[in-house]
Amino acid sequence: METKKITRILFVCLGNICRSPAAEAMFRCVAEREGISDILLIDSAGTYGGHSGELSDPRMRRAAAARGIEMTHRARQVREEDFGKFDMVIAMDDNNYEALFRLAPDRAAQQKIYRFREFLRHNPDWSYIPDPYYEGHEGFELVLDLLEDGCATLAEIISKEKGSSEV
Ligand code: 4NP
Repeated sequence: METKKITRILFVCLGNICRSPAAEAMFRCVAEREGISDILLIDSAGTYGGHSGELSDPRMRRAAAARGIEMTHRARQVREEDFGKFDMVIAMDDNNYEALFRLAPDRAAQQKIYRFREFLRHNPDWSYIPDPYYEGHEGFELVLDLLEDGCATLAEIISKEKGSSEV
């Protein structure tokens, strides 16, 4: 019987109500479109737990819905155990990265942490995904534009890995 290698990806921001749940929902859509959703497990979490249990920010949900992306995630705080459950833990900005680095229990866990900017190909001026919480509508649109760029790259990387493992 064929066994599929599942890649488990966790997107992380501060509150888990704007950027990372949007990344999660968008990457699900991209994965579906690219035919790789069967080899992916996708989730998101926040370094701050103050919004735990809440649906995403309505401004983020509205902006995503306008691009055909439905967001149903309930916020949760990232936990040390997540490093055992996920293969890639992708931080939206440097503060998130540093918080994850402190939480990681060992070197192997630290090596699972990435910055979302590593996947940006068409937005070289951005070294992080800016927090839109105190911004206007444009802030949310910018987040989605950057996420589209990085999610496409990530899907391509995973598709290539899938292709090489099938040979
Ligand atoms: P996120 O945005 O990290 O993209 O979910 C924020 C959400 C909430 C807060 C900050 C950023 N907050 O301070 O409550």
